[in-house]
Amino acid sequence: MGAGHTRFGVREEGPRALLRNAVDAAFSSVDRGASRRDVGEAFLATLGFGGHQIGNSSAALAEEAGLVGVPVTRVENACASGGFALRSAAGALSAGAGPLVLVAGVEKMTDVTNARRRYWLGVSGDTEWERLAGLTFAGVYGLIASRYFAEHGDASEALVEIAHKNHENGALNPNAHFQKVVTREEVRAAPRVARPLGLYDCCPVSDGAAALLLTSPELAHRYTDTPVYLDGMGAGTDYLAVQERKDLTRFHATERAAHEAFRSAGWNRSDVSFLEVHDCFTIAELLALEDLGFAAPGEAPALTLSGATRRTGPLPVNPDGGLKAKGHPIGATGVSQAYEIFVQLRGQAGARQVAHAGHALAHNVGGAGATATVSLFSVG
Ligand code: COA
Repeated sequence: MGAGHTRFGVREEGPRALLRNAVDAAFSSVDRGASRRDVGEAFLATLGFGGHQIGNSSAALAEEAGLVGVPVTRVENACASGGFALRSAAGALSAGAGPLVLVAGVEKMTDVTNARRRYWLGVSGDTEWERLAGLTFAGVYGLIASRYFAEHGDASEALVEIAHKNHENGALNPNAHFQKVVTREEVRAAPRVARPLGLYDCCPVSDGAAALLLTSPELAHRYTDTPVYLDGMGAGTDYLAVQERKDLTRFHATERAAHEAFRSAGWNRSDVSFLEVHDCFTIAELLALEDLGFAAPGEAPALTLSGATRRTGPLPVNPDGGLKAKGHPIGATGVSQAYEIFVQLRGQAGARQVAHAGHALAHNVGGAGATATVSLFSVG
């Protein structure tokens, strides 16, 4: 019944101020107001990038949220920390932790040197083989893209379309890191980061925070006339190192999470009005469409090139700009996806509002697919 968001990007604020601002915004967003005294438990999603309060950061959230004394648990599942924190919060609510449970996600990434940045990005992948071999996340996703092209044919133009679409959506999002449209030609001509992926195929390195306030369905109307319901959720894991996996072009953690989410919600794929998927690299958006069951293997490029996933198409994907343009402050991302769904389902997304937004899916991935959550939301 409440959601808050800071702008993502290169921010002056440190992690504590980012958290405070997101949590304050979440409380302010509650239609009939909410008291901090009603928060029974909280969850903090963060990697602790750069060593910012790498241990016991839960207490920092308690301080900045005005909740000292309330139990807070830090959830660290790399880029999927936010999705897993939301899952933990839903479980806590079911176990009677309410009336309110807070979920906050934060990352401060831009105040370290490039070498430290590579180190802190690297810790979320396999550190024994991949990192020692010098493989970055762009490198891993570059390998995945190459393999995808080998199996299904060259999908470069679909990747261009995803970058173009997500920048176009980000340009309408006042919270986005990049609020500029890029032309398809600029995307094609950009320097390569890890072939076949170029600059515009990569998410940026961003600071930012987001926060959510959850309550039980029975109490929702105490706070608002337009609650957003979490109808189903699933989560999964896979081998940490991609070399251990049977398949490079499918994320089994996502498939498992999606299966469980749709089963628990009792929804069909056709119920979904729009998706927030984890496009840390453009190839990841193609994989997501297939792993989530919206396209058969090898069919996501055609779906993308048809225009179906544009904001005005029948199945909008990443109307907030996605990780690609909105930015990817690691711990904040999964929480930010739920924020976007909250405002879209309530018809409050302004210029980027999608039409007929009744049911939405959020998909959050850790590392190169080793952890994943899928959450299904509707508006009541
Ligand atoms: N998309 C578009 N533009 C980007 C960008 C991105 N991903 N990253 C940086 N830029 C822009 C900057 O805004 C800057 O523009 P300006 O010159 O107009 O100010 C310019 O490119 C150079 O920025 P800089 O920060 O020096 O780039 P970089 O070369 O150090 O980093 C990447 C570029 C792609 C390597 C970096 O963004 C990156 O590592 N991304 C992936 C992060 C990641 O792995 N996250 C985890 C995912 S699992």
